[in-house]
Amino acid sequence: MKVFLISFLTLVSIFLFNKNPNEEYQSITLQNDILKESIKRGNEIYTDFCVTCHLPNGKGMSGVFPPLANSDFLKEKQTESIRGIKYGMSREIIVNDKKYNGFMASMGLSNQEIADVMNYITNSWGNKNDKIITVEEVSEVKKIN
Ligand code: HEC
Repeated sequence: MKVFLISFLTLVSIFLFNKNPNEEYQSITLQNDILKESIKRGNEIYTDFCVTCHLPNGKGMSGVFPPLANSDFLKEKQTESIRGIKYGMSREIIVNDKKYNGFMASMGLSNQEIADVMNYITNSWGNKNDKIITVEEVSEVKKIN
């Protein structure tokens, strides 16, 4: 009985006090911290540059300013979304089965600012994107037209 109790307690303490994180765990935590910081900066950029059209709730204005909240376009066409924010967008697009043919000007943001605002909008209003968007990724997006 005593032996059982001791081994039981040992097992419990291994469980509770095992704070010896392996490398994978550490790198995930680091990634999460980097993503969190990026989202925080992106929130400020959103407030300064995007909120007037896409609104605080990310819902935009149906038929005029497309939504970012739950937007299939943003979710499925990440590169095109980045390209639009970087160089401007003025062509017909379909967002959640609705046609938009408006005009979004380039706001002259840096690649880092675009990565941050992308991390913010892809992780707000119910949107979820675990994969961080990096400044390198943004810098690789070129103008096509
Ligand atoms: C002056 C209004 C305006 C501002 C400011 C603006 N947008 Fe847009 N945005 C638009 C319009 C209009 C479109 C659709 C353009 C088209 O039809 O080609 C659009 C399209 C988009 C799209 C792709 C479509 C979608 O809804 O998923 C994304 C992503 C986007 N904007 C993000 C941003 C971000 C991020 C900012 C701030 C850095 C921003 N926009 C600022 C008006 C604006």
